[in-house]
Amino acid sequence: MLGKNLTIIGGSGGMGRVFARYFKKHGFKIILYARNEEKLEQTASELNVKYNLSLKESVKDADIIMITVPITSTVDIIKEVVPLLKPNSLIFDITSLKHDIIKVYEGIKNEYPINCLSLHPMFGPGIKDMRNYVMLVLRVGGTLNYNEIVKNLLDLFKSDGLVINETTPEFHDKKIAMTLGVPHMFNILFLNLLRRLNEPLNELTNYTGTTFLLQKVFAESIIQREMEMFGDIQMQNKEFYKLLDEFEDLLKDYKKIIQNKDKKGFFDIFTKGLNYSKEDNHFKESYKYFYEFMKILKK
Ligand SMILES: NC(=O)c1ccc[n+]([C@@H]2O[C@H](COP(=O)([O-])OP(=O)(O)OC[C@H]3O[C@@H](n4cnc5c(N)ncnc54)[C@H](OP(=O)(O)O)[C@@H]3O)[C@@H](O)[C@H]2O)c1
Repeated sequence: MLGKNLTIIGGSGGMGRVFARYFKKHGFKIILYARNEEKLEQTASELNVKYNLSLKESVKDADIIMITVPITSTVDIIKEVVPLLKPNSLIFDITSLKHDIIKVYEGIKNEYPINCLSLHPMFGPGIKDMRNYVMLVLRVGGTLNYNEIVKNLLDLFKSDGLVINETTPEFHDKKIAMTLGVPHMFNILFLNLLRRLNEPLNELTNYTGTTFLLQKVFAESIIQREMEMFGDIQMQNKEFYKLLDEFEDLLKDYKKIIQNKDKKGFFDIFTKGLNYSKEDNHFKESYKYFYEFMKILKK
């Protein structure tokens, strides 16, 4: 059985709020912990849950401890909190990179009688309904009750329509470099390329129909999100460095094709991209989706 006392470390942050609301709705007794009292008190009163400014006090009765602090603080906070936990409790983080975290849990699970799990929700604090969103799951291990405790938690998520995908740290960080690092990078670069050309975006919008408008809005929505986390997702992930080398080579090849007016080369790279995307489930309807988005923007 899953105990009902749940402490959220980083409870005043964007994701802490999302999960505090979620678990409260499911009858858990929530305590929030973070460092800044004003923000913590405000969040706790908004959500009508308790808070505690002492890490030790906040987790002393906790059956479940959720860690939702920035990527680079996660390892340290796990190490700090684990000696304070009661036997058989479940600790899980939701941080966006897994290589270092899983290594730390591997050591902990042999030293302390607790259960360790690592999750990565594939959504941000703006979410209203978790249905059909993906939760990545990395099992670590722990006490004899491990499988039952983890099953209870995952069953809860599944009952709300979350899609559970189990993975390993290597796979996770490699894929995240592609699915988060790449689109973040392209959109940061898109806006900075135009900025360097000194053209106000409003001015450029007068010279556009569809593609630019959609791309611009997408980039603008990304650039207003969590700067520190987006930076860490790229800087702290060795897999992303490999991908940058690949990108550099690709850009060099592309520059040559364009400068040499190499029509065959252009046809070749275009067709390769086309054939690659043909396999994708969204491919067939993508032009239709594109105009659905445009309808909103042209209102
Ligand atoms: N945002 C997303 O879209 C998203 C999606 C999936 C996963 N995640 C992961 O979720 C985690 C949190 O992200 P977020 O966007 O919710 O961050 P956030 O809004 O910046 O919130 C961070 C929280 O952690 C607290 N905190 C920061 N440093 C701390 C420390 N050293 N010790 C204790 N508490 C600390 C902050 O409050 P104080 O500064 O007052 O302590 C705050 O409550 C990250 O690991 C991120 O990778 C985020």
